[in-house]
Amino acid sequence: MTKRVVLAYSGGLDTSIAVRWMIEEWGVEVVCVLVNVGQDAEASESLSDIQARALAAGALECVIVDARDEMANEFCANAIFANARYEGKYPLVSALSRPVIVRHLVEQARKFSAQAVAHGCTGKGNDQVRFEVGTHALAPDLEVLAPARNWGMTRADSVDYARKWNIPIQATKEKIYSIDENLWGRAIECGAIEDPWAAPPEEPYTITRVTQSEPVELTVSFLSGVPVAIDGETLPLATLIASLNERVGATGFGRLDMVENRRVGIKSREVYECPAALALIAAHSDLEDLTLEREVHHEKARLETRWAELVYDGMWFSPLKEALDAFMAETQRHVTGDVRMVFSAPGLMRIVGRRSPAALYDHGLATYDAADTFRHADSEGYVKIYGLGVKTWAARQGAKNATPPRA
Ligand code: ARG
Repeated sequence: MTKRVVLAYSGGLDTSIAVRWMIEEWGVEVVCVLVNVGQDAEASESLSDIQARALAAGALECVIVDARDEMANEFCANAIFANARYEGKYPLVSALSRPVIVRHLVEQARKFSAQAVAHGCTGKGNDQVRFEVGTHALAPDLEVLAPARNWGMTRADSVDYARKWNIPIQATKEKIYSIDENLWGRAIECGAIEDPWAAPPEEPYTITRVTQSEPVELTVSFLSGVPVAIDGETLPLATLIASLNERVGATGFGRLDMVENRRVGIKSREVYECPAALALIAAHSDLEDLTLEREVHHEKARLETRWAELVYDGMWFSPLKEALDAFMAETQRHVTGDVRMVFSAPGLMRIVGRRSPAALYDHGLATYDAADTFRHADSEGYVKIYGLGVKTWAARQGAKNATPPRA
């Protein structure tokens, strides 16, 4: 029986020639799955053109799955709960889409009675890790194939290979950037960006070009941690994200330039544009300042770092990540309210107000004016006992730096 493989298909050069290459070299049958995670925002060609290319390359079939709501409601929402930014910066754009794609690959593998799934990643990146670890978490019996790790072709070889097999591609031998895109933003690598000292060129950016010079002021409303409305208009999360990308991206907000640590031990310089992701995480985190109890808030900050690392490392489907999701979900019960934000070109954002029916901010306790309800006398004994250990230490052993340095 011929082995059947379900390939995560993007329509790009690598996954297109992967279809033909696996058929020729490994004698397999290939079914392509194109998962729409919102990468079509600026698409220069239609999904049906991409589908036609898969068939021209020799695929038995090319299934298209619209996973935009799934990406938003499950993957982006959980990332918002965790204020997820890998190494304090990167909002996990590609790392969030891989498990969505994996889930559909596995589903289609079952439907087509395939023995393996495949991806077009090289051996140097994080995405191979995410595809493979993710697949094994959902389907330990499926084999994962990585043709691009085996074929040893340069980009020029790949273009020749496509021409030889009459696969209609748009790519040319001089591709400059490697770009991955979805609802949560765009990740840009290669070309001039590979020199960490060189300022990133303007040209690969698409959603953060400044086209709006007047400041944009808006209010984002959250319900138990989930963004539900902009300026009072209730929107499905996928639509809300897409609309924010447009509105605030137009002020130039949302760019990141970073040197990051890949899972595979390589440091790489990458740039990102992710206006909605950065705006929503900033707003959400601000609303948590108002609504989370102190100890929960501090512990959550520690676990957020871990959550982002796990997801970056391809552990979306893993016991620790699931346990952390349960913690995050519990903390979100009262993260409900509104956040006011102002975006001004080029790329500046300020949060100027927040309110919540569940706010722990108590004006009577906080104010210094006549409305003060705080009992000042209670502090006397509290502070004495709080500082007792230090006072005892000072009396018996003394502080090393008690005397100011002489001029
Ligand atoms: N470095 C990012 C990550 O590992 C983005 C990788 C996206 N790939 C690309 N071809 N630009 O999540």
